Amino acid sequence: MKSLLTRWLPLLCFATGVLQAQPQVPVKLPAFAEGQYVHTPPSPDTLASDTTLHPQLRKLIERGRDLFLNTQQLRGKNVFNDMNCQSCHLGEGGLNWSGPVWPAATTLPDFRGKNQRVNTLEDRISDCFIYSMNGTPPLAGSEDMLALTAYHQWLAKGAAMYNSKIGGRGYGHLGTEMPRQTSYANGQQLFGEHCALCHGDNGQGRREAGVVIFPAVWGDGSWNWGAGMSRVPALASFIQNNMPLGQPGSLTAQQAWDLALFVNSQERPQDPRYTGDAAATRELYKDFHNLTMYGLTVNGKVLGQHDNTGAKPFLRPPGLQLRPAP
Ligand code: HEC
Ligand code: HEC
Repeated sequence: MKSLLTRWLPLLCFATGVLQAQPQVPVKLPAFAEGQYVHTPPSPDTLASDTTLHPQLRKLIERGRDLFLNTQQLRGKNVFNDMNCQSCHLGEGGLNWSGPVWPAATTLPDFRGKNQRVNTLEDRISDCFIYSMNGTPPLAGSEDMLALTAYHQWLAKGAAMYNSKIGGRGYGHLGTEMPRQTSYANGQQLFGEHCALCHGDNGQGRREAGVVIFPAVWGDGSWNWGAGMSRVPALASFIQNNMPLGQPGSLTAQQAWDLALFVNSQERPQDPRYTGDAAATRELYKDFHNLTMYGLTVNGKVLGQHDNTGAKPFLRPPGLQLRPAP
């Protein structure tokens, strides 16, 4: 955490200065529903002093945490955009309403609609590498994958197994349907007012001396069209409960929807499942793309109709299973 803070500090101070000029807003998060299971993961800061763990295991979990916070160390090997796991899973992967990652360790193996088979924890982590990191996963059984799974499992310490009524899981509190009314123009304006300061006028994020300080929300440095965040409801929920940084719940649901629509109507690296035609790919994977803007015409252009894979020198990671075209 220290190293991250040191890296952000200059920009955080700059951003906080601007934010402080605005009226303070209370942090507002959704309430847990009746009967939901709530788990509080151990604080990663207790890891170093946890003597119940074999030193070798502790070292491995610490390595997993380090990979989670600074996934950029795998850039060019497994990661081909500006993301860290922490970019979307805030609070070191333990924060409710910010896609806490431990539920995967307590609910898998399970069937997953996205890839139509029973997934392990390694499979689930791999999917975020393939889409959210615009990359290719570390091999199952490799030291890096083992470290990441050990960290996920450790965050789940004490949690109930196979209880899927988990409060604060994922990015879903705004539902899984597009609202009837959203405004691109309003989203564009809100982005300029509340987000561009950190994420840049063109969504490109911000680097300091080559180090990513604020991640890109669209363009080559961002997640690809196959990532869960390109589903408008997921992004809207993430935004409302996590952004602007440090002010969760400060935007209304409508503002979050408009922002999500605007951000997800910009270009980003190609979906690795691309068939050569975005509209046809949308149709083939419509159970996923029904909630994205991919393959739709916005501002006179079909989103995703291009061969750009960002900094990734290939379209598909090896072994990616594709659906046969009809
Ligand atoms: C661009 C944002 C983004 C990044 C970066 C990202 N993820 Fe995710 N992750 C998601 C989304 C979206 C979901 C699905 C949440 C939902 O179901 O509502 C998810 C889900 C998960 C889950 C399943 C959680 C559950 O509730 O079962 C795990 C585990 C996970 N991610 C691990 C990782 C790891 C490890 C990394 C880094 C290698 C990573 N993610 C990077 C967006 C991201
Ligand atoms: C004060 C700076 C700041 C502001 C303002 C801010 N963000 Fe962020 N945002 C961040 C940081 C930092 C992260 C990554 C979190 C981490 O690494 O801990 C992030 C992560 C994200 C992500 C997930 C990762 C990615 O790059 O796609 C999205 C999406 C996002 N922000 C959208 C927004 C939106 C929309 C707004 C405006 C409502 C906004 N942010 C305002 C700093 C900011």
